[in-house]
Amino acid sequence: MTNASSLAGRRLLLGVSGSIAAYKSATLVRLLMKAGAEVQVILTESAAAFVTPLTLGTLSKKPVLTGFLRNAATGEWHNHVELGLWADAYIIAPASANTLAQLANGFCPNLLSAVYLSARCPVFLAPAMDLDMFAHPAVAQNLARLRSFGNHVFDSPSGELASGLAGPGRMQEPEEIVRELEGFFGLRMKNEE
Ligand SMILES: Cc1cc2nc3c(=O)[nH]c(=O)nc-3n(C[C@H](O)[C@H](O)[C@H](O)COP(=O)(O)O)c2cc1C
Repeated sequence: MTNASSLAGRRLLLGVSGSIAAYKSATLVRLLMKAGAEVQVILTESAAAFVTPLTLGTLSKKPVLTGFLRNAATGEWHNHVELGLWADAYIIAPASANTLAQLANGFCPNLLSAVYLSARCPVFLAPAMDLDMFAHPAVAQNLARLRSFGNHVFDSPSGELASGLAGPGRMQEPEEIVRELEGFFGLRMKNEE
């Protein structure tokens, strides 16, 4: 069977930050793998409380990266520069308000944000938070800044939120993220023909 997805063979970094929507990252990994992509997951410490490295590592068939250090006793570390150069695209889904603030302002206290600063590939962000957080001018400004850097920001659709409120701020659905990524890489392939 041939794999027709434009994601086939693509090296994708998936950064997962601390939002209740982190559970959706499991479906996202599964869909990206199904499309034939190679997926390396990076979790923030907060994200690891929402979704386990075991789940994402099993689905991606690769150990999940969380901290800078692989083995503190031996001094082995995860090379954020190499990871940034390895990737064809960096998808951060869900992107928490805290992570967006770090990325918009060049802070890199963790592996996810350090890799962002090193990455030369296209970056795709899927914000996910409660509606009032999403509406806050600080978040809106960070998103505008991130767009101005050339990052792609997925819509955060309206709907029921984990808080019980309803409004915009939901993480874009994994199926839609994959559809948009396929569109992006499909267009790139067409331009390269
Ligand atoms: C139950 C719970 C749900 C949360 N959901 C969100 C969320 O959807 N979006 C968000 O931006 N922050 C959310 N937070 C707050 C973040 O987890 C917190 O700001 C954390 O520091 C984010 O760290 P990170 O960006 O390094 O992953 C939530 C916190 C808790 C306890």
